[in-house]
Amino acid sequence: MATLELKNVEKTYGNVDVIHGIDLSIDSGDFCVFVGPSGCGKSTLLRMIAGLESITDGEVLIEGNVVNHITAAKRGLAMVFQSYALYPHMTVRNNLSFGLENLNTPKSEIKYRVDEAARMLQIEDLLKRRPGQLSGGQRQRVAIGRAVVREPKIFLFDEPLSNLDAELRVAMRGEIASLHQRLGNTMVYVTHDQVEAMTMADKIAVLRAGRVEQYGKPLDIYNNPVNKFVAGFIGSPSMNFLEAVVTSVDSDSIVVATPEGSTVTLDSNRFATEPNQKLSIGIRANHLEVVDSDAGDFVMEVVSAEQLGGETYLYGNIGENSSFTVHLPGQVNIARGEKIGVVLRKIETQLFDLASGNSLRQQ
Ligand SMILES: Nc1ncnc2c1ncn2[C@@H]1O[C@H](COP(=O)(O)OP(=O)(O)OP(=O)(O)O)[C@@H](O)[C@H]1O
Ligand SMILES: [Mg+2]
Repeated sequence: MATLELKNVEKTYGNVDVIHGIDLSIDSGDFCVFVGPSGCGKSTLLRMIAGLESITDGEVLIEGNVVNHITAAKRGLAMVFQSYALYPHMTVRNNLSFGLENLNTPKSEIKYRVDEAARMLQIEDLLKRRPGQLSGGQRQRVAIGRAVVREPKIFLFDEPLSNLDAELRVAMRGEIASLHQRLGNTMVYVTHDQVEAMTMADKIAVLRAGRVEQYGKPLDIYNNPVNKFVAGFIGSPSMNFLEAVVTSVDSDSIVVATPEGSTVTLDSNRFATEPNQKLSIGIRANHLEVVDSDAGDFVMEVVSAEQLGGETYLYGNIGENSSFTVHLPGQVNIARGEKIGVVLRKIETQLFDLASGNSLRQQ
């Protein structure tokens, strides 16, 4: 087990800044997920930790030691890639043992570690096959096995499940989580799938354009997003947003009005706002109730309804151009074209400054 720290880490390709000074401290044994949209710098950051990419500025520390100038092979890390990167001409057993042979590990030790990893990942029956004779999920297990046999201090995963179909992805997600439980190693896992992030992580780092927007436990981030970007990125379906303006603030309440003429009253102890401030109301689809169209905070015109049996999604619009999603438990008899009243659960409602996107919650 090992700690991993990033201190003001920067990356520049030519004259393009890609990573803008990232500070991050990952505790020993933590499962840390880097999540963020495509191109935000997740792989670059992981490759800098791995030693596959130079560090333009700042420091990477493993177990408290700066490793900037230590080669990838000597950092004691193992990386699993999206593309598996298996050797096609070698058997599974040779794919697993190859790295250890290069390190001059004794033959009996190699056999022991490969057999252990194969047992753990349930690929014992596949050891004589070549990668071309395996399914995607089996190949990914071999790629993980190749990392396991190296007994690394830290595992690095770069979108290891994105080539798998949805069902297999869910199964492998569980397997990686239980691998983490069994081994207890520090793991850093890159994904742009926020559901993977929520379900696997001890801690999530939400990245945007080369910066960490928020770092914390999944539910802390879900419940207290620091800005509109994080609020919209974490949670499925995405948080609903409605533009509004503050019409009055007093010691108890804040009244906000939306362009189509609705008003909502919120507890003024929860938010720091001022009159006339333009903001964005944020509310998750499952923090809403549906009532008659004249009895809610807002009127929503339902554009489509998805009845999944155990739950119902209603998609529609509030006012001219604010699309809105309502997620209700159970079965609800509401059809396309209907107008419904939507009530916000006030305690779960968030406010963000419209210009900066920052959360207006009082900490
Ligand atoms: N070798 C390179 N030269 C120049 N720019 C690069 C290079 N590698 C990456 N970039 C740029 O750095 C940025 C971050 O890329 P990176 O691959 O880290 O993104 P990512 O978050 O992993 O995205 P994805 O989710 O699509 O994998 C992108 O804008 C990319 O175009
Ligand atoms: Mg990437």
